[in-house]
Amino acid sequence: MSEQKRGMHGIWSGRWTFILAATGSAVGLGNLWKFPYITGENGGGAFVLVYLACILLAGIPVMLAEVLLGRKERMSPINTMAAMTDKTGAPKLFRGIGWMGALSGFFILSFYSVIAGWALLYVGKIAAGAFVGIDADGSGAAFGAMLADPVGLTIWHTVFMFLTGVVIARGVNKGLEATLKVLMPLLFVLMLILFGYSLTTPGFMQGFHFLFDFDFSKLSTESVVVALGHSFFTLSLGMGAIMAYGAYMPGDQSLGRTILWVGFLDTMIALVAGMIIFAIVFSNGLEPSSGPGLMFVSLPIAFGSMPGGIFFGTVFFILVSIAAWSSAISIAEPAVAWAVEKGISRVKATAGICSFAWVLGLGTVLSFNEWADYKIFGKTFFDSLDFITSNVMLPLGGLLIAIFVGWFMSSDAIKDEMKMKNETLFSIWRFVLRFISPVAIALIFINGLGLI
Ligand code: PHE
Repeated sequence: MSEQKRGMHGIWSGRWTFILAATGSAVGLGNLWKFPYITGENGGGAFVLVYLACILLAGIPVMLAEVLLGRKERMSPINTMAAMTDKTGAPKLFRGIGWMGALSGFFILSFYSVIAGWALLYVGKIAAGAFVGIDADGSGAAFGAMLADPVGLTIWHTVFMFLTGVVIARGVNKGLEATLKVLMPLLFVLMLILFGYSLTTPGFMQGFHFLFDFDFSKLSTESVVVALGHSFFTLSLGMGAIMAYGAYMPGDQSLGRTILWVGFLDTMIALVAGMIIFAIVFSNGLEPSSGPGLMFVSLPIAFGSMPGGIFFGTVFFILVSIAAWSSAISIAEPAVAWAVEKGISRVKATAGICSFAWVLGLGTVLSFNEWADYKIFGKTFFDSLDFITSNVMLPLGGLLIAIFVGWFMSSDAIKDEMKMKNETLFSIWRFVLRFISPVAIALIFINGLGLI
């Protein structure tokens, strides 16, 4: 049976391909755009520390659990959770992991595509030299003008959604694997170049201190909730993306080390992005807490003044778009895989899911202009969608996954799938997954509910 299921969606071709695909999913707008701006909004250092703790104590353990579940059943998260719930005799509630995940994916894809559209638009702007010699005010004004134009935003949202759909429709094996093999290292190199540049700016140390000096007086309950939510968002957890990718992982690969690689690369890219962006922010008198525009306002200033800035800037925003693109694919994959298992063709499933997400994305487009004053609990449509997915749905999904694997799967069944050689590491992971992750997520979650 499992052979046939394998054939249905395909399998990653090599040992490194899963790492590449999972890293492609994890590294995206969450690292380059969201992490720096929410760190700015939440006061810096203490937030970063809580975020790192969440990655270690909740993110990595849950990631291992998700991949394990996916590889065990080799089906879409919805069907994987249905099968595993039946097999283990766990309460039916756990089937909900798959469904809620598909819904979260649909919500996330809708706004993700709009923001990725900004990056696409910036490729053209930088290439055309629009930012040469620009100062902080000019860059802020250019960003504001972009947001004020719903038609322009919709066009780029449409382009991005279309690109995402094309790849999903063709299956993940073709194209994506080969492309990522070249592009992920390129992203790394470019980040290093930008990092080198940021070292030469006068604000580098100030930015560094902002990120790494832990001042706990700045930490609110909301910051802790946001840090936890972001640790799930950035690692693509709690909604089935990594579970779906795990389903295409070769059976003989050991899980522990593979997952640590993905977690490490994702965290490094976020921290380096933060160092670059805050160096530029402080060098140009920008506000670290200026919100979603942070990356789009700060980086063009750097590209506008550094040697070769047009070239590096263009390449950088192309890579941001690609990082977003490789993530967007994994956001839609769980729902598409489920539809395919239902007998719908991959092309039709993709078209349907992307179209729905596209329509919902129009709400995000409008929340930056026409609907900017309509607030739900004090948040715009985009903020609400972002809040509810990252800070409620993903942590809840992660909590259920931790409880499911920690408490309802037998140690033998897990070991059999994990192929983990180190007993001690296994015991530590299982302990964290059973006790620490669920308690930490639940505590933060319950506290956070007061914020809604
Ligand atoms: N991890 C991706 C990022 O950081 C976003 C994502 C979320 C991808 C959920 C898949 C699932 O940009």
